[in-house]
Amino acid sequence: MTALFDLAGRTAVVTGARRGIGLAMATALADAGADVIGVSAHLEPSGSAVEQRVRAAGRRFTALRADLADRTAVHRLAADLNSGGPIDILVNNGGTIARRPAAEHSDEMWDQVIQVNLSSQFLLSREIGRNMVNRGHGKIIFTASLLSFQGGINVPGYTAAKSGLAGLTKALANEWAAHGVNVNAIAPGYIETDNTKELRADPHRNEAILARIPAGRWGQAGDIAGATVFLASPASDYVNGVILPVDGGWLGR
Ligand SMILES: NC(=O)c1ccc[n+]([C@@H]2O[C@H](COP(=O)([O-])OP(=O)(O)OC[C@H]3O[C@@H](n4cnc5c(N)ncnc54)[C@H](OP(=O)(O)O)[C@@H]3O)[C@@H](O)[C@H]2O)c1
Repeated sequence: MTALFDLAGRTAVVTGARRGIGLAMATALADAGADVIGVSAHLEPSGSAVEQRVRAAGRRFTALRADLADRTAVHRLAADLNSGGPIDILVNNGGTIARRPAAEHSDEMWDQVIQVNLSSQFLLSREIGRNMVNRGHGKIIFTASLLSFQGGINVPGYTAAKSGLAGLTKALANEWAAHGVNVNAIAPGYIETDNTKELRADPHRNEAILARIPAGRWGQAGDIAGATVFLASPASDYVNGVILPVDGGWLGR
């Protein structure tokens, strides 16, 4: 590992670390040398897959369970995180999706998706980011989406949240770049996780999606690892406010 991508001695918080993309991100950060604090709704207090992977990389792991849909719980989470040692990297990845046409998209779906995917991410970034600014360094990474750029189909709340994250990435980057805090986002393409199970189960959607991906395949969670380490490491010290697509070429079509 060259110094450019070395995360030894760093502490990273990864939300949604229990499975899918967050699990791959936490693993990649540990492989690059970071200790990891994993957060998710159902994270096992010990023995989770993410804990096993981080420990296999020789790094320390802490498990925190929190419901990002519950604002009070997110405040508590932020306070817990700030009461420990300094956090160098915050990966705001935990997210949820509600697939229902706009005319049937209920208040509850809208509120849940906006709270988990946007509001909790702002709250955590504000509370952790303030200390990063005071220390003069830090890395914040959001998991955005292709729907930070496009409208999507039957997911209006999700699109609104992910488009909001793109704006938030730039807003925070503008304020905090001068203080040594890099704020950026990764926009994964279509990745094989629980989030996209329904799409892959629908032969028409699956075929239409595959036909449009220049790389000719769905992404795997591990495809997000390189961009995560890049945006968490000194290699990206002059990268601010970027929403980096990792999408097999989808947006280029
Ligand atoms: N898969 C894709 O194609 C794709 C594309 C673009 C963006 N994304 C984004 O990537 C991120 C990760 O998604 P994924 O594909 O890895 O999906 P996933 O496999 O469904 O994983 C979602 C993760 O978020 C956590 N989470 C969900 N709701 C939560 C809540 N209310 N409180 C706390 N944690 C919560 C889950 O926790 P538990 O495991 O504890 O339940 C899980 O660890 C999301 O932000 C998603 O929008 C995914």
